[in-house]
Amino acid sequence: MERGARRQLEHLLEQLARDERLDQYADALQNLVGEILPQGDMKDALTGGWLGHAVHPALTDAVIGTLASATLLHLVGTRHARRSSDFLVAAGLLAAVPTVASGLADWVDSYGEEKRIGFIHAVGNGAGLACYLLSFGPRLRGHGLRARALRLCGFGLLAGAGYVGGHMTLRKGMGVDHGAFAAYPEHWTAVIQDEDLKENILTKVTAGGTDIVLYKNHRKIYALANTCSHAGGPLVEGQVDGDGCVSCPWHHSVFDLATGEVVHGPASSPQTVLEARRHEGAVEVRLHPPDGEH
Ligand code: FES
Repeated sequence: MERGARRQLEHLLEQLARDERLDQYADALQNLVGEILPQGDMKDALTGGWLGHAVHPALTDAVIGTLASATLLHLVGTRHARRSSDFLVAAGLLAAVPTVASGLADWVDSYGEEKRIGFIHAVGNGAGLACYLLSFGPRLRGHGLRARALRLCGFGLLAGAGYVGGHMTLRKGMGVDHGAFAAYPEHWTAVIQDEDLKENILTKVTAGGTDIVLYKNHRKIYALANTCSHAGGPLVEGQVDGDGCVSCPWHHSVFDLATGEVVHGPASSPQTVLEARRHEGAVEVRLHPPDGEH
């Protein structure tokens, strides 16, 4: 894309991201999604805690690939190709069901600029899918030109919404592990005196410029990245439950203190866990060394 056009497009997106007038529509959709979206294990399945990252991006490939192929086949124009196109449109719309559900499950906990950009992404995709669905009407009535136009229009909308989705993820960081680029100590590093670490109180310490949260329970010490993998919330302000899990104060993702695994989303990436030990009166932490090293 020509650099000037790309900059204009990015400028437009940034303006929309800051436009608070979008909030009334985005909030209404978030409230609706919050009411109809299944909670608990089903929502966790949609956000991807079981996979270690979001499932929505992978599912979008199935929808876009199928519908793009359908559009191409329709453009070829032979009767056989148009029939195959119908089949692919039906398959693409079917694949859109879990794709839309997982995307909404990721988006429903967003706010600010991410929420607005996500709203535009959702509306664009919704309109694109509607075009494909509506194209069956003219197809059944034998109006080939209208069906073709609707499928082309649908593809254009999906492509535009895909661009917005990329901006939301790669520029705004939505769905990205917010602890991915932190630097943790690879060697034992003293972070606090043992006597200063109180039992059953989340305590923030710093090692190599990176915030780590410690939790001491029955003399066992747990150490995790303080920055929540979901959207950067401070785990030190969260709560620890009786099952040895800590919940994030922002969107209530729950992580296992010992393993960092996601117990409940919306987080999909596990929390980085460090080894912790007492040594010469201090608490020391380090990243787990690679297998075979000590
Ligand atoms: S920042 Fe969203 S759950 Fe932690």
